Amino acid sequence: MRKILIIGIGVGNPDYLTVQAIEALNRVDVFFIPDKGTEKKALRALRETILARFIKDAGYKSVGVAIPKRRAAGDDYRGSVDDWHGALTENYESLFARHLGEGQVGGFLVWGDPMLYDSTLRIMEKLQVEVEVIPGITAVQALAARHKIALNRIGEPVLVTTGRKAMEGLPEGTDSVVMLDGEQAFAHVPGDYDIFWGAYLGTKDEILVSGRLADVKGEIEDKRSKARAAHGWIMDTYLLRRRT
Ligand SMILES: C[S@@+](CC[C@H](N)C(=O)[O-])C[C@H]1O[C@@H](n2cnc3c(N)ncnc32)[C@H](O)[C@@H]1O
Repeated sequence: MRKILIIGIGVGNPDYLTVQAIEALNRVDVFFIPDKGTEKKALRALRETILARFIKDAGYKSVGVAIPKRRAAGDDYRGSVDDWHGALTENYESLFARHLGEGQVGGFLVWGDPMLYDSTLRIMEKLQVEVEVIPGITAVQALAARHKIALNRIGEPVLVTTGRKAMEGLPEGTDSVVMLDGEQAFAHVPGDYDIFWGAYLGTKDEILVSGRLADVKGEIEDKRSKARAAHGWIMDTYLLRRRT
């Protein structure tokens, strides 16, 4: 059976790679590198920097993977994701057959950690491959480290959710980390919060803002839209901590 290493590479800073990840990189014969437009071009460049910096023997192969566009979700978000996963699975099946010989090891460099808002594990489950997972530093960890905060309050839970869900409302009495937010959900969340916001975490373009949401909301919106226009893409994560 073919072996696939799913390697968490952390978010943005090559120094976030663990020793285990570096060792795994050096076991891979063929890397499969997804390519998804402008945003992914920047991420792809970082992945290539990682390969050049950490791999001792440059005998590996790199195969670009064209990622099909997900159809607009409308009111069927799960259906659109399932169809997209189906198309990706077929794609990978034929790529493995074409590029990965019996006994060879394939590798995926997953942004952050593969267990958090990433489809690689779900897609590999559907294929006849043996998988090994190497954890990485998530955007949530990078956010907390850069703001020098503990994520949870003593003995309290933290919800990790998406911008889409946050727009529907956040649960009472729980702090929330919001990811995948294309809508600037923080600007619409009712209630009195402190926000710890970070964009391009771990990279040279990192931006951090924190404070009472009502006071810093405008500043974040402004910085966010300017940065997005300048780079052509943005990735941001934030903690909303209810004020007591
Ligand atoms: C598809 S998810 C991938 C999460 C990733 N697997 C992880 O472990 O953090 C992409 C989302 O992660 C967050 N994210 C990833 N990299 C980030 C970064 N460098 N700075 C801020 N947020 C980031 C953003 O919320 C972005 O929309």
